[in-house]
Amino acid sequence: MLVVQPRSRTVVVLAAGEGKRMKSDLPKVLHPLLGRTLVGHVLAAASAAAAEQTLVVVGHRAEQVTAHLSEIAPAALPVLQAEQHGTGHAVRLAMAAAPDATGTVVVLNGDVPLLRPETVAELIAAHESAGAAATVLTAEVADPTGLGRIVRDAVGGLERIVEERDASTEQRRIREINAGIYAFDAVRLRDALGKLTTDNDQGEEYLTDAVGLLAAAGAPVGVHVADDVTETLGCNDRVELARLRRLLADRVNEGWMRAGVSILDPATTWIDVTVDVGRDAVIDQNTQLRGATTVGAGASVGPDVTLIDTSVGPAATVLRSHAVRARVGAGASVGPYAYLRPDADLAERAKVGTFVEVKNSQLGAGAKVPHLSYVGDATIGARANIGAATIFVNYDGVRKSRTTVGEAAFVGCDSSLIAPVEIGAGAYVGAGSAVTKDVPPGALAVTRASQRVVEGWVQSRRAGTPAAEAARRAAADGEAAHHHDASGTVPGDTATD
Ligand code: UD1
Ligand code: MG
Repeated sequence: MLVVQPRSRTVVVLAAGEGKRMKSDLPKVLHPLLGRTLVGHVLAAASAAAAEQTLVVVGHRAEQVTAHLSEIAPAALPVLQAEQHGTGHAVRLAMAAAPDATGTVVVLNGDVPLLRPETVAELIAAHESAGAAATVLTAEVADPTGLGRIVRDAVGGLERIVEERDASTEQRRIREINAGIYAFDAVRLRDALGKLTTDNDQGEEYLTDAVGLLAAAGAPVGVHVADDVTETLGCNDRVELARLRRLLADRVNEGWMRAGVSILDPATTWIDVTVDVGRDAVIDQNTQLRGATTVGAGASVGPDVTLIDTSVGPAATVLRSHAVRARVGAGASVGPYAYLRPDADLAERAKVGTFVEVKNSQLGAGAKVPHLSYVGDATIGARANIGAATIFVNYDGVRKSRTTVGEAAFVGCDSSLIAPVEIGAGAYVGAGSAVTKDVPPGALAVTRASQRVVEGWVQSRRAGTPAAEAARRAAADGEAAHHHDASGTVPGDTATD
């Protein structure tokens, strides 16, 4: 019986380059792309290797890249390549840092973010089942400019990889390119790396030459052609980065649509790879779903919505709004024009309406803040109603305090609730109040001054103004109406309108 021994595997990601053409203070591999950095995407794809160890070669701004790695891949071992003498040099240093590595070594350029884990798995399977010394992921592309070309021998085997700047005119016509993703046998790789020269246009040690050396020595070298060319695209400048973002967004959107999500305008919908969307959710145009955002089944999000690390419950609605680290409960409704800041927490069927900002506050089930309000550091009970233009005054210039509004309480329009303060369950606050003292359950609090009316003030103090003229006409109309009343005929349009 054939027993397949589980092989030892090592992943090496190359991330030491500066990425000069990005013209950026940020190392190329740390540029973000729909929810992960470039190197984050590559590491996610590489997880398909189920490797015992993962090494990431760092160099340019090594501390910054290492700090990022410790967040996203704490098990990965950074290997310092202080001076970047080429991809072959980088892998040589990685292999020196992993002297016990045997079996398969998967090498990935850190700037190939659209690579899928399935493709890495296929590359490894092809490599290991063939017992190859090296297997190279390649693709046939329409425009191979700038990339290494795959030179095949008379019988179609890989002979060598030639960089564009070292290629002959004839070789430049080759459209099969090196994706920068390889599987190697560890022992053969080590041997080949020891033989690299810097005899090329850039004076660098090329990893691609290791493949050529193995082929020249008669070792079995394989090629795995990628079905989807986009997976092999590298990122060298911001134009390419924007293209990759478009391609990845299309891939993500298609995935969700096939999973039962309606995306009304895929061209303006940007969903990070880290987001989760439920069945029958509807995503309308100009919508960005970022980070750890989740959208529940049947929810409606957009148009014009940005959600960052925000969860939206089933059947909830979010319209023309911006939310960061917020939670929107099932059947709740947000917007249009709402701003949910960190720890805004809306229970089921709660409503945050037009021009309302909510921060670090809990709204109970069915609680409503329909218009023009600021809610900060508050706990609002179930079914409470917060009238238009209510301000939760949470900051005295030195410290923040909390406000509690009880269940089914009613806060009239244009009130200030000056924290710390508590409005009891079922209590009422009269419109225009500034509340500084606790209101017991079921009580009414009104703090506004009572109204004073000075008859005839405009005629005496603002004579000759449009207001005075309007007042005079109103008085005359009143007289006329009075005459009509006296004659017993009441025109239908005088009472209302
Ligand atoms: C490389 C390949 C080329 C291939 C292309 C695919 C070589 C010699 N050429 O070219 O055949 O078509 O990728 O995108 O390998 N890096 C280091 N240390 C170094 C140099 C590079 O870590 O000393 C890293 C870079 O950060 C990058 C990756 O290796 O993530 C590739 O380097 P890059 O300079 O982009 O190589 P290309 O010229 O694109
Ligand atoms: Mg490159």
